[in-house]
Amino acid sequence: MKAPQIRKPLPGTKANNLIQLDKTYVSPSYTRVYPLVVKKAKGLWIYDVDDNLFLDFTAGIAVNATGHCHPKIVAAIKKQADRLLHMSGTDFYYTPQIALAQKLASLVPGDTVHKVYFGNSGAEAVEAAFKLARWHTQRELNIAFYGAFHGRTMGALSLTASKTIQKKHYNPFVPGITHIPYAYCYRCAYNMCYPECDIYCARWVEDTLFRTTMPPEEVAAIFVEPIQGEGGYVVPPPEFHKKLYQIAQKYGILYVADEVQSGMGRTGRMFAMEHFGVQPEIMALAKGIASGLPLGAMVARADIMNWEAGSHASTFGGNPISCEAALATIAMLEDELMINAEEQGNRLKSGLHRLQNDLECMGDVRGKGLMVAVELVKDRDTKTPDVKLRNRIIHKAFHKGLLLLGCGENSIRFSPALTVTASEIDLCLTIFEEVVREAITN
Ligand SMILES: Cc1ncc(COP(=O)(O)O)c(C=O)c1O
Repeated sequence: MKAPQIRKPLPGTKANNLIQLDKTYVSPSYTRVYPLVVKKAKGLWIYDVDDNLFLDFTAGIAVNATGHCHPKIVAAIKKQADRLLHMSGTDFYYTPQIALAQKLASLVPGDTVHKVYFGNSGAEAVEAAFKLARWHTQRELNIAFYGAFHGRTMGALSLTASKTIQKKHYNPFVPGITHIPYAYCYRCAYNMCYPECDIYCARWVEDTLFRTTMPPEEVAAIFVEPIQGEGGYVVPPPEFHKKLYQIAQKYGILYVADEVQSGMGRTGRMFAMEHFGVQPEIMALAKGIASGLPLGAMVARADIMNWEAGSHASTFGGNPISCEAALATIAMLEDELMINAEEQGNRLKSGLHRLQNDLECMGDVRGKGLMVAVELVKDRDTKTPDVKLRNRIIHKAFHKGLLLLGCGENSIRFSPALTVTASEIDLCLTIFEEVVREAITN
């Protein structure tokens, strides 16, 4: 069976040389957690420049939905590259953009007609949603959540409340945004327990926020991740979104689901909000949408996307090659990958739950489909975050050839390609167990 192959030490000579060059010429704002210099990749397997072989459970931060360089995606890209590289969908028409908009609109559950705006990234999709919410409602205030990550452009960053380093020195932000606690039951901001809390965190919006500081009739939108991503793969209780959505509807507030990380089949449904039975007015999509090609999309109800020509656009948004890659990706998601995400996600979660029985440091195991995380703690009673242990585990995993990433303060995320096989899940679990046992002793 295929397994990682690592020649020590890491990084190897070629990787080391390239990292030195990178240090000289590339922006130091990037957060590389370990010295992986990628040469080529296929499926879940990555060769670095020194020919070490790694098992990738990051999918380039939850992007390569169909695995690295899937032949069907590569074929779609090559075919389109021969036909048309760019013509700017903001000023001209071309088939791939129209076809993808039609497809995305058809994926939204229900009969309501939807329209699509195209950008190049998650931040641009959120930014477009932010502007549309203002444009449509002509209201100035917005609600977002602690722990949320919506991107790094100034509008999206104003909604983000994940880590201060992301906001340091960038004040002032877009005014009128109030951040409130997310439904993070493992660490409830109100010290309550589900289900006795009766979703106090959602009720609080109407009972306290709207009665004291925030006139609801001035609120344009609630920006919310169906499952918090960078914040720690936090899955809210089943009723959270429904309760919040009902409150939003009562006051004519738009519900904007940031599905950038959770969408496009990752959780076993096309959009994670489907797990919660809520149909948001606006959705932001990116990451997995085009298997690695840059593309962002903002999908909104047609009656809400009523802005005028010239009110928002992007030269590169909806690039024809990205759109063809997205159409090929969606076909694969519908064919079998969403089902696989659910099946393999369950296998991964039950494996992690089994390890949790024996390993005190694994405070919480959570997730849906292939959006799964483990939260590392010093002990289960106090739930004190063990950030150092989390970081040690990620580094040790890298040295054993398993690629993982952190999320939240002290969690590890598992976000492999949706093509992952049962044996790759089992291999990941075997290496992860070995690594955790080593990491807790040194
Ligand atoms: C939920 C969510 N929204 C927005 C973004 C920003 O996406 P991008 O980095 O493509 O701008 C991210 C990226 O991690 C994300 O997870």
